[in-house]
Amino acid sequence: MTVTEKLAKWYEKNGRDLPWRVKGGAHGDPYQVWISEIMLQQTTVKTVIPYFDRFLKRFPTVRKLAAAPVDEVLLYWQGLGYYTRARKLHECANILVEKYDGEFPPDREKLLKLPGIGAYTSAAIASFGFNLPEAVVDGNVIRVLTRLKGWKEPVSSIMDRIAAFAGELTKASVCPADHASAIMDLGACVCTPRTPLCTFCPLNRECVAYAEELTEIIPDITKPKKEVKEGYVFRIENEKGEILLRKRTEKGLLSGLTELPWNTDKSFPFDADWEITNKKVRHVFTHFDLTLTVVRTRVSGIPENSDGFFVPPEDFKKHPFSTLMQKVLKLLPAEE
Ligand code: ADE
Repeated sequence: MTVTEKLAKWYEKNGRDLPWRVKGGAHGDPYQVWISEIMLQQTTVKTVIPYFDRFLKRFPTVRKLAAAPVDEVLLYWQGLGYYTRARKLHECANILVEKYDGEFPPDREKLLKLPGIGAYTSAAIASFGFNLPEAVVDGNVIRVLTRLKGWKEPVSSIMDRIAAFAGELTKASVCPADHASAIMDLGACVCTPRTPLCTFCPLNRECVAYAEELTEIIPDITKPKKEVKEGYVFRIENEKGEILLRKRTEKGLLSGLTELPWNTDKSFPFDADWEITNKKVRHVFTHFDLTLTVVRTRVSGIPENSDGFFVPPEDFKKHPFSTLMQKVLKLLPAEE
């Protein structure tokens, strides 16, 4: 038997009965799947169950939810925390009524565009709600898959590999919705974070972590150390007191925003009399921690090879600057 087959067989006998779950195919009401998944973010199954039941009684459909005042939705959310989730829920219900006649579109890409619905929730609705072969990858699933494969690397660094493996198993499954529930339940009930019940696990014969006694160190969910980058930000002034700015490309970090030229290799953009000041700006991005030192010079005319343009400081307000650049600009008057 394959891993997917073993999981399916295990689930038939051991899968949990949950109020938002229907076994053996699509749920039939993606609305319930959606409500449950949003509630289950940062909240345990046990806590969610009574909230889910009460919520569904009061707001049984997308239309009923959309028509309710947001304050009443918040009332039914009281105690679950993270109230932005409830506001987004209400907002999303209204969009569904306006755009999709109160129904969820059976399409991952369309689901992703809705407020509060990201990579995880769109996959969950597609899988549980429509039985589409989308891999649903939450913490439980990550634990099962990394242990099965014996992957010791930090989870954050191998998410692509984990998602690809999850996708393979999903495609091999007869019923994607049941498969997603099965792997989640295995993670929640057997392949638990501490003292997993490996002897009862249907996958223990193929599990690398079990064979090599690695369940205590897999998955490695330590936060990756943020990369620390240092660089220069250039204050290039012409004889009119204008400052050289450039516009970032439409792709990638800070796309489309205006900025003073900066880099993280501490090279100079052209030959000039550069003064490295003692002014520094620190900014924390998602993936790295950046410190820029202000470096200044004066020029006449546009420097060679420059993709920039000069702007008088009083016109800065016409340009969209990132928070990083706003920090840099705050230092500018002191630079005079
Ligand atoms: N945690 C998140 N989604 C879940 C689901 N559908 N069933 C059980 N636990 C979950």
